[in-house]
Amino acid sequence: MATASVGAAVDRYPAVIIVLHWTMAGLILATIPIGWRMGDLEPGPLQDTLYHTHRSIGVTVLALAILRIVSRRTLGVPPPHPALAPWQRTLSVAVHHLLYVLFFVVPILGWAGTSAFGAPIIVWGLFELPPILPVDRPLSEILLGAHGLFSQTLAGLVILHVAGALYHALLRRDGVMQRMLFGRTG
Ligand code: HEM
Ligand code: HEM
Repeated sequence: MATASVGAAVDRYPAVIIVLHWTMAGLILATIPIGWRMGDLEPGPLQDTLYHTHRSIGVTVLALAILRIVSRRTLGVPPPHPALAPWQRTLSVAVHHLLYVLFFVVPILGWAGTSAFGAPIIVWGLFELPPILPVDRPLSEILLGAHGLFSQTLAGLVILHVAGALYHALLRRDGVMQRMLFGRTG
């Protein structure tokens, strides 16, 4: 299994995966609060911009998730950190798997729900994503409701994940955090 730097004390993730991790983390952490706020605003240019931005970020997350899975398969990832207790290993692998599932489920439900609503999905003002469902308002309500529910699940898992990462970085200081960072190898 390929790992990052040969002979280094830290068994890092490949650079491409580190870049994808932090880019996707930034996008997801931006689009969740936008999603929470945009529906409460008065209809108008600001609300339109937030909807377009939210959808564009979501579509980008979906595209990067595909790239991330391909990178993971071709470059490999380090085995679980040896400092993890068996229950921590099981929990972190389960959370990572669920996060990967939600990287697809959440944007695809948003795409399907927006298609069924009949609104255009214009990605970063560059091109329009084709609808994947015909217009059907009651179905759109169900799909966007599920989109909201799964995005709350995603937010909950991110909190758990970040708490775990900070626990290792600040309290245990066992090198788990370094695996997802660039920097000194020792
Ligand atoms: C929306 C925010 C985030 C998401 C969706 C996310 C997702 C993920 C996923 C899916 C993995 C598994 C990588 C793989 O095996 O392919 C991972 C690993 C990791 N993440 Fe995050 N992450 C987020 C934010 C953060 C933050 C803020 C931190 C630090 C405070 C962090 C620290 C780490 C570390 C250290 C690893 C490697 C864990 C290990 O080696 O076992 N993540 N993250
Ligand atoms: C990782 C990607 C995404 C995340 C984390 C996310 C997150 C969210 C969140 C937190 C909400 C608010 C839900 C609520 O208040 O109940 C929301 C609403 C919404 N999202 Fe997303 N979203 C993503 C991708 C997308 C995509 C790709 C689209 C469409 C192409 C989309 C379309 C919508 C729409 C139309 C709403 C409003 C739903 C309503 O008002 O009922 N989202 N999203």
